[in-house]
Amino acid sequence: MSRLAEKRILLGVTGGIAAYKACGLTRQLIQAGACVRVVMTRAAQSFVAPLSFQALSGNPVHLDLLDTAEESAMGHIRLARWADLILIAPATADFMAKLRAGLADELLGAVCLAAEVPILVAPSMNRAMWSNPATQDNASCLAARGIRLLGPAEGGQACGESGYGRMLEPAEICRAMEKFFVQGSLAGRTVLVSAGPTREAIDPVRYLTNRSSGKMGYAMAQAAIDAGAKVTLVSGPVALDPPMEAQVVRVESAAEMFKAVVGLATRHDIYIGTAAVADYTPATVAEEKIKKHEAALVIRLTRTRDILTAVASLPNKPFTVGFAAETGNLESYAREKLEGKGLDMIAANRVGQAQGGFDTHENALWVCWNGGVKNLPMASKQDIAIQLIELISENYRAKNST
Ligand code: PMT
Repeated sequence: MSRLAEKRILLGVTGGIAAYKACGLTRQLIQAGACVRVVMTRAAQSFVAPLSFQALSGNPVHLDLLDTAEESAMGHIRLARWADLILIAPATADFMAKLRAGLADELLGAVCLAAEVPILVAPSMNRAMWSNPATQDNASCLAARGIRLLGPAEGGQACGESGYGRMLEPAEICRAMEKFFVQGSLAGRTVLVSAGPTREAIDPVRYLTNRSSGKMGYAMAQAAIDAGAKVTLVSGPVALDPPMEAQVVRVESAAEMFKAVVGLATRHDIYIGTAAVADYTPATVAEEKIKKHEAALVIRLTRTRDILTAVASLPNKPFTVGFAAETGNLESYAREKLEGKGLDMIAANRVGQAQGGFDTHENALWVCWNGGVKNLPMASKQDIAIQLIELISENYRAKNST
């Protein structure tokens, strides 16, 4: 049985060419056993007749905010209360801007404003409209408020151009909605993830860093979100887009990462230290660019403060997971870190090889905790992250049920 069975889905259709795809979407939702009511904006009615949605959904279509018959029967508040979930597909750039601003000049905007249930939005627009900073800003703002964006996809567009902006196909939207109704293993939990490298300044133009791309940490953040957690991502400088749903704190140096993570740690249930934090930093930072007068240059380094140890020593410490990057003696060094830093779990990876570790798409982990070990064989960082998040949530639950 589909997870959408008996779910009450309010489908909002706005005025884009993909409105015709919303007919197929309605059909698939009904076939999955969902109960569907459709609200159309004025512009949507220029693309598809309401009668089509009435026939497909088996319910009258809701069109006007100020229709007196409508308001007495199924007004905007009652429509908002009726739904288990609101899906806007297609969502035009104009509607996303209205949703962000909280405009209620049409029925659909009023329903969204009155809603206390999750809202999913499937954007559909020209690629330049999607990448326009105004739309990107609206999308980020909606995501930060907990509105889930499904897509858009990349590909050919009705206008003849090609790029990001296509609405996801109805089957993809249905799959994403099914996932939404699955209670993830971290539902209701808060997770803090650190990712990427740090940069330690030598002078105004030079710094010490390492090869971390942030891929492993960003995959951990996404996997925790997909498992239902609310995620804060403390990120060193990387060239990746963070997961839309994550709260992102950007830092540069090990000292900045220390301050951000330790400051946030006790507000989270779980901390995962995926970042490759510098162990040493220049003792002093030259104010001016260092000139190459000397044949050799000596830079004195001092130890940075260990973030994991500090988090694991907090009075209300979160469940604390470290990573270990090793070129040899993987298991014994990882065990030393687990015990020495007072961690709940450690995930060790071999680095310096062709496959896995720094700046590759795949990884393999040897995971160890008090009372167990598990090997996660080489796979994409996304797959490894999903498996590691499951191990973390099992151990988190076991620790918190005793
Ligand atoms: O970013 P990618 O390119 O995807 O690469 C992923 C990765 C190899 C960086 C990642 O999988 C990984 O191994 N991260 C930890 C890297 C590291 O710094 O390992 P370490 O063995 O030196 O440190 C052990 C742990 O102590 C780590 O969790 C680290 O975050 C933490 N640490 C280190 C120094 C410090 N000052 N504070 C810390 O908390």
